[in-house]
Amino acid sequence: MDAISALHNRVSIAVLGGPAPDAAQRDVMLRAAMRAPDHGVLRPWRFLFLEGEQRQRLGQIFVEARLQDEPDADAEALDKLRMKPFRAPLILVAVAETDEHNRVPVLEQIVATGAAVQNIMLAAHALGVGAMWRTGSMARHRHVKASLGFADKDEIVGFIYLGTPAGAIKRVPEDDPRRYTRTLPA
Ligand SMILES: Cc1cc2nc3c(=O)[nH]c(=O)nc-3n(C[C@H](O)[C@H](O)[C@H](O)COP(=O)(O)O)c2cc1C
Repeated sequence: MDAISALHNRVSIAVLGGPAPDAAQRDVMLRAAMRAPDHGVLRPWRFLFLEGEQRQRLGQIFVEARLQDEPDADAEALDKLRMKPFRAPLILVAVAETDEHNRVPVLEQIVATGAAVQNIMLAAHALGVGAMWRTGSMARHRHVKASLGFADKDEIVGFIYLGTPAGAIKRVPEDDPRRYTRTLPA
């Protein structure tokens, strides 16, 4: 697949089954991440692959986080949270390990990590791997960050759900890019 075709046609795949991308495919995706633009070449991105029983641990971490905020959360809501990591066989947690003392602003370190994630999304698409970028309140929770080995200052930029597309792949929606361009005010 050529690069322009991947750029124009990538879509998120919400329904994912097995198999998970293999070691060679993971390597291709990580190498794509490494070519993201990166102010100061700080390499702010960190990647954590979670699969198999590790997804159960992630679900448990989500539940613990929710219970810290809502000790009376109902069992049904907690079960739903616990099951979230099972939406795909593999989850790539992408984290910006930020340095607030660097001359490069933290925002740019997070943006660089986001660019790395987008490179992963595009590489996944080119490989035929299904991917969906998710965040939600759990991505911002101190307990989740700590349990994954990160500090509160760090930012979970995404939980990237990866697997084999299951079900129909949605069409690329029609949208006119000119709607989003502006001209310089007089
Ligand atoms: C930083 C970020 C976080 C996102 N978090 C979620 C999320 O938690 N849940 C969700 O349904 N979509 C989330 N999305 C959006 C989807 O990944 C997806 O881009 C969107 O549904 C549009 O589909 P498309 O990528 O096929 O155009 C997020 C996107 C970004 C960039």
